[in-house]
Amino acid sequence: MRIAAVLSLVAIAAVAAETTSDPPVEKTKKNIKTLTGMPTSQLIPAMAFMSNSLGVTCSHCHGEKWESDEKPAKDAARRMIVMQKAINTAHYEGKTVVTCNSCHQGHVTPPPIPLVASAGWNQPAAAPKTTLPAAAEVLEHYVKALGGDEALKAARGRTSHGEVTRNNGRVAPVSKPFTLKQEVPQKITVETELSYPPEANREFVGNFYRSLAIRSIDVPMVVTGVETIRGKSAYVVELTPKEGRPERLYFDRESGLLLRRYRERETPVGVLPEEYDYDDYRVVDGVKTPFLLSWSRADYHVTHRFDTIEPITP
Ligand code: HEC
Ligand code: HEC
Repeated sequence: MRIAAVLSLVAIAAVAAETTSDPPVEKTKKNIKTLTGMPTSQLIPAMAFMSNSLGVTCSHCHGEKWESDEKPAKDAARRMIVMQKAINTAHYEGKTVVTCNSCHQGHVTPPPIPLVASAGWNQPAAAPKTTLPAAAEVLEHYVKALGGDEALKAARGRTSHGEVTRNNGRVAPVSKPFTLKQEVPQKITVETELSYPPEANREFVGNFYRSLAIRSIDVPMVVTGVETIRGKSAYVVELTPKEGRPERLYFDRESGLLLRRYRERETPVGVLPEEYDYDDYRVVDGVKTPFLLSWSRADYHVTHRFDTIEPITP
């Protein structure tokens, strides 16, 4: 795989398939009975949404051939898609309000009986409210943590080597080396022999440029709360782009560094979440840089572990 791409800062360009022709899925796939009319580009996100809701991998419903109906769960899923649509049409004006996850919540069989442990008197007392800083303050702390404006301005690019690992829960995880070249302004080359969804490359290649230009991101941002990410207390900054769903950035309250980016995308069956995680920050040419990056979605976990990151000097 060799990719040279130009990326925008926040909403990094959608996958090529979505911008070029996108025929209905029954035209491009072999055995579509219920999802007819859905654009082909939505098929895998919709499948990932269903997998995520049930807490299963694709192989719960699919055998070796995707079009085969050998597993009864696949036909059960068809009945469920029809049922979900009927509920939403009858009760919610056709909006996707009730979804697989409303009932399943990570279980193959939704538990019909509540747990006594869920009793109202057994709920933890509400945590005392933390006074939240302005988003600008959180970004200020982030820029300082990265190394400051001067170091960010001076960066010309990087050449990096490492290993990319792909896990889809169906076959054993596979790892291969990668080389990533990022030049300023945005010119990117990725080389690896491992195939994985292009979404896994968005942050892997784009995070560096966004950190350089974090001050010029021009969308509304608010700090919405505090959450614990990998054991660290983090401010949640919500960004609302002009198009698409809001996304969240999680900044470590102590170090100021970015721990996670969270995004969502709509599918015909429900909203599919994905996360990019950053860890193992080290200084490269005066700029703190994550040496571990991963992309997680229902269908894949792709990890980029950097061995070396060399600055490009003018
Ligand atoms: C809960 C069951 C379920 C899970 C889990 C599931 N699928 Fe599906 N899949 C279906 C159903 C049902 C269809 C057929 C939809 C229809 O008839 O409209 C389908 C169809 C497909 C097709 C089209 C095959 C063809 O040529 O007709 C592909 C490709 C596919 N799924 C991929 C995946 C992938 C990849 C995953 C994991 C990310 C996955 N599916 C997870 C139920 C599932
Ligand atoms: C209104 C609640 C509800 C919604 C919405 C719902 N389900 Fe279900 N689903 C159930 C219940 C309850 C069962 C168990 C039925 C039983 O025990 O026979 C079930 C069973 C299933 C099964 C069979 C379990 C197995 O053995 O594999 C599959 C597959 C399934 N659902 C997939 C889905 C998918 C995919 C969606 C979204 C398109 C969905 N369901 C939406 C309630 C729901």
